[in-house]
Amino acid sequence: MLEPISQPTVTSVRPAQPSDAAALAAFAARTFRETFEADNTGENMALYLATNYGPERQGAEIRDPGIVTLLAEDGRRLAGYSQLYEGPAPDCVTGEAPLEIRRFYVDRNWQGRGVAQTLMVASIEAAMERGAHTVWLAVWERNLRAQTFYRKCGFEDCGAKEFMLGRDRQTDRVMVRAL
Ligand SMILES: CC(C)(COP(=O)(O)OP(=O)(O)OC[C@H]1O[C@@H](n2cnc3c(N)ncnc32)[C@H](O)[C@@H]1OP(=O)(O)O)[C@@H](O)C(=O)NCCC(=O)NCCS
Repeated sequence: MLEPISQPTVTSVRPAQPSDAAALAAFAARTFRETFEADNTGENMALYLATNYGPERQGAEIRDPGIVTLLAEDGRRLAGYSQLYEGPAPDCVTGEAPLEIRRFYVDRNWQGRGVAQTLMVASIEAAMERGAHTVWLAVWERNLRAQTFYRKCGFEDCGAKEFMLGRDRQTDRVMVRAL
């Protein structure tokens, strides 16, 4: 007899609360490391992780009124998160009222299973609620899976931007989508 195909579902996407800071910090550091450690030195990874992740840092981000932090959950476990930032956009982003999707990460176990799409829909809705008419993001030029995903979501490449991973100067592609 055929086994029923289990339908993976992420039950909810919700705004993060200050009490989520420790869990988010651990999740964000782990997913960043898993995504980039194979292509970067241990020293640069350690430097980046130490300066960008930790309960205090993520707690401050969650409380920051200029940042929207969304959590995708499988029951009560984190399956992904995104962060939207208010702030200046690169010159190639010419659309009205731009908002940046600064971080967008899905747990390895949930990749290729629709969680990223659910999180993107929620992120776009949150951007529109904030009055954005344009969303943009920067993605490492070597991160082809993410670029493919963003193109599927309607983003187009509009230019390049520098990114420092520890002491390594890297090039990100800038991608943009009108809302
Ligand atoms: C980027 C991310 C959110 C996308 O979510 P996802 O669930 O993997 O997305 P999907 O599987 O729907 O889409 C990825 C696409 O890339 C394709 N792909 C997979 N590996 C690839 C590769 N090495 N090169 C190019 N495309 C690739 C997939 O086939 C899929 O396309 P398809 O639907 O046409 O088959 C997720 O992979 C992730 O969190 N990655 C780690 C963190 C990260 O890179 N975040 C982005 C930082 S800017």
